[in-house]
Amino acid sequence: MIENIFKDNKIANQFNQYNDVLEQVLGYDKIFSYFSGKSLDTILDYGCGPGKVSLRLAQQTTAHILAVDESPKMINLAKTERAHKNVTYDVVENDHLKGVQDNTIGGAIACYVFINNHSEKRIQHIMAEIYRVLKPGSRFMVLDTNPNTTGIPFSTFQNGETGKHYGYGEPRVETLHVSEDEDLILHDFNWPNRMYEGNLKKAGFLNVQVSYPVLSDFTIGQLKEIEKTYHYNHWTNERTKSPFIMYQAVK
Ligand SMILES: C[S@@+](CC[C@H](N)C(=O)[O-])C[C@H]1O[C@@H](n2cnc3c(N)ncnc32)[C@H](O)[C@@H]1O
Repeated sequence: MIENIFKDNKIANQFNQYNDVLEQVLGYDKIFSYFSGKSLDTILDYGCGPGKVSLRLAQQTTAHILAVDESPKMINLAKTERAHKNVTYDVVENDHLKGVQDNTIGGAIACYVFINNHSEKRIQHIMAEIYRVLKPGSRFMVLDTNPNTTGIPFSTFQNGETGKHYGYGEPRVETLHVSEDEDLILHDFNWPNRMYEGNLKKAGFLNVQVSYPVLSDFTIGQLKEIEKTYHYNHWTNERTKSPFIMYQAVK
């Protein structure tokens, strides 16, 4: 088994094709609305994958986006398909942001990255590295699949088997529906809330807060707008159950 499945060409390409409408509506949009009102020099996108979020962040803010990933395939896809004058895509090695000075970055995000890491020590190390480069008072936002809804089918994906209990850090299979007749099978890990809370605090972060966005947070009018924007209305359990968790913390 390779350490990071996103280094595989086929997986990187399939992930690139996945329609991330749910992630946008119940995750990324909250990140964009937080950062779009700020005038920050640089925002770090750790584990940027093919650059879908980095590009949108660059389009919705005036910041420079430093987008890093340990998969060279993902960085190649990002550079080829989502180049932008305000985004620098780079391969990160040994979980170290080479050349990035302490206390220099105005905000950071890590979207669907920690669930892909089986080593808690490594997650601790990455959180500490992000803490190192952030300016005091700046925000770190983390999105991952919700460990409390493992096994529940959502319209675009299912994480874990229905009815199965997963232990701390236990491997889990995630199925992303790439198209009507194609699923992308990912292997990730079940990290409960206490892993995020404990390690964010250990890294030094303050005001650690979690939220569980669901579609019923929106008014009927807002949901109609969302459906028009994304040309999508095949909602299922995400109406009342949260597919994702979002952590926010401050240095
Ligand atoms: C599910 S993709 C998410 C990509 C992007 N953040 C998004 O939301 O579209 C996870 C990405 O995290 C990267 N990743 C996982 N563990 C990592 C680590 N320890 N260091 C750097 N990148 C990592 C993978 O290579 C992959 O590109």
